[in-house]
Amino acid sequence: MDWRRTHKCGEVTAKEIGTEITLNGWVQRRRDHGNLIFIDLRDRWGTVQVVVDPAVAAEAHKAAEDVRSEFVLSIRGTVRKRPEGTENPKLKTGEIEIATESIVVLNTAKTPPFPISDQVDVDELIRLKYRYLDLRRPVMQEKLVLRHKLIKLMRDFFDAREFIEVETPILIKSTPEGARDYLVPSRLYPGHFYALPQSPQQLKQLLMVAGIERYFQIAKCFRDEDPRADRQPEFTQLDVEMSFVKRDDILDLVEELFIEIVEKLSAKKCVKPFPKLTYADSMERFGSDKPDMRFGLELVNLADVVEGSEFQVFKNTLAKGGEIKALLGPGMASYSRKQVDDLIELSKTFGGKGLVTIQITEEGIKSPSLKYIEDVVGAIVEKAGAKVGDMVMIVADDAKTVANTLSRLRLEIGDKLGLRDPNMLYFAWIVDFPMFKWDEEGKRWDSEHHPFTMPLEEDIALLETDPGACRSNAYDLACNGSECASGSVRIHRRDIQSKIFDLLAHSPEEQQARFGHLLEAFEFGAPPHGGIAPGIDRLVMLLTDDDNIREVIAFPKTATAVDPMTEAPSQVTEEQLTELHIKLREGKASDVRMV
Ligand code: AMO
Repeated sequence: MDWRRTHKCGEVTAKEIGTEITLNGWVQRRRDHGNLIFIDLRDRWGTVQVVVDPAVAAEAHKAAEDVRSEFVLSIRGTVRKRPEGTENPKLKTGEIEIATESIVVLNTAKTPPFPISDQVDVDELIRLKYRYLDLRRPVMQEKLVLRHKLIKLMRDFFDAREFIEVETPILIKSTPEGARDYLVPSRLYPGHFYALPQSPQQLKQLLMVAGIERYFQIAKCFRDEDPRADRQPEFTQLDVEMSFVKRDDILDLVEELFIEIVEKLSAKKCVKPFPKLTYADSMERFGSDKPDMRFGLELVNLADVVEGSEFQVFKNTLAKGGEIKALLGPGMASYSRKQVDDLIELSKTFGGKGLVTIQITEEGIKSPSLKYIEDVVGAIVEKAGAKVGDMVMIVADDAKTVANTLSRLRLEIGDKLGLRDPNMLYFAWIVDFPMFKWDEEGKRWDSEHHPFTMPLEEDIALLETDPGACRSNAYDLACNGSECASGSVRIHRRDIQSKIFDLLAHSPEEQQARFGHLLEAFEFGAPPHGGIAPGIDRLVMLLTDDDNIREVIAFPKTATAVDPMTEAPSQVTEEQLTELHIKLREGKASDVRMV
């Protein structure tokens, strides 16, 4: 007997009534009503109700008695209308059921460690250990389908615009993106290593030198850094590069793509066109280069109104060149002493020394610091735009701490007050990033984006005089408080690239050893070019409202960079190590931490 399906479980409808069909799938549930046995049979397309009646199919009924959850079955039967009153309007197949004629058990199954259903209340480690069962759950399959559709849409979008997808190697020489490399030892050359790409950055630039002009790739990237809620050691980028373009050609194209993605693949709304903010503006207004712009509550700079205040905290901060900024908490005047203290404690976890709070109540102003700020409190309240019922929270510190504390507090308050509308994707371009950041430990400049980024033309002179003030032609796409893409116009001239490497304290020998191929390529007619790389996993998270990146990746690593299913990383044999010319420093391997 041919057990192969003629129809898909989730797609049988009233149209098939009277038809004899064969279905394949897994047992979602079996209910034994003594006489009749009901089986919900599930495949990727959904579930359908199967009824086995011993009076009609004695053998099938006997088989059904032994069937358990997750058994794999082939069921042949006839589609019929469900008896009046037993329809299930929530199910696509809810009007019909299958009157079974025969059952083939294609495989049995042990009892799964958790039920295969949309709501599972089970430790994530168990889900990851049995990821193949976790991925049987319809919610997880929907995410994989969405991811597939997203990638297909991207490929079609770029194909229609004459971009070509070029695969770049995974075994390469290190390309810096600010993380540690994963290294692969060379068997043929003792003491030599390949690096897994942190991104295809240099290769896509070399493809521009090669005259490809319009490149994209769904690219795997590898970065040996501690995983976080939105960070995996191995993730996927939509990598894009174009020749003979200026910044806005790239931004316009990606904006068009993102709008198409949101409109075709989600029910969410986005604001069109995406606003463009300079980095400086974004930091001033939101204290962040990835602002959540779904709500206001912008930071208020109090420097002018507290100038002259005798309050030591304000005075010392201003004297040291720090910042004093405030955040308005609408309706938060009613917060109890305990709630305010909790907020202050929370703010300390963001790096600050605490908050000066001012609550504007019906009875007047409440503030633990009132006696020190009496002379300026009126001006602060006015500048912050606070009304009776509100609270003003002030941080006085160095600019970085103020930005970090208030930007995170702003998101907390946005959450608490329900201001972060889940139906909205608020994309914004952040442009004109600083070219460098100062590395205090190494006492040297480091790239803010990466070393291949072109400085803004009008700032090139600053490379000589004030590198810290030099802005770059780099840009990010921020959305709802996360960074979902990053790119830049690149350097395409050897002299400028060498100058940047000099500034980054790479000696001429080091430049030659690490980047000689790129520097040389720039001498063979490299066209002006630029590009961008949206993070695909993060984009899926935005579309599915997941706040953990592991939820949108088929086989992710834990927060300790381990795969509990295959138990990678794992030890290798002494022979393998010998072949790779490797001897462990401690003589033996350590244990692997699953959590
Ligand atoms: P960047 O390093 O900013 O730029 O990465 C681009 C985008 O990739 C995503 N991303 C990540 N997603 C998950 N896990 C990670 N560990 C991770 N790291 C980055 C983010 C980020 O915005 N070559 C440059 C791009 C360019 O200049 O064209 C690059 O890789 O969404």
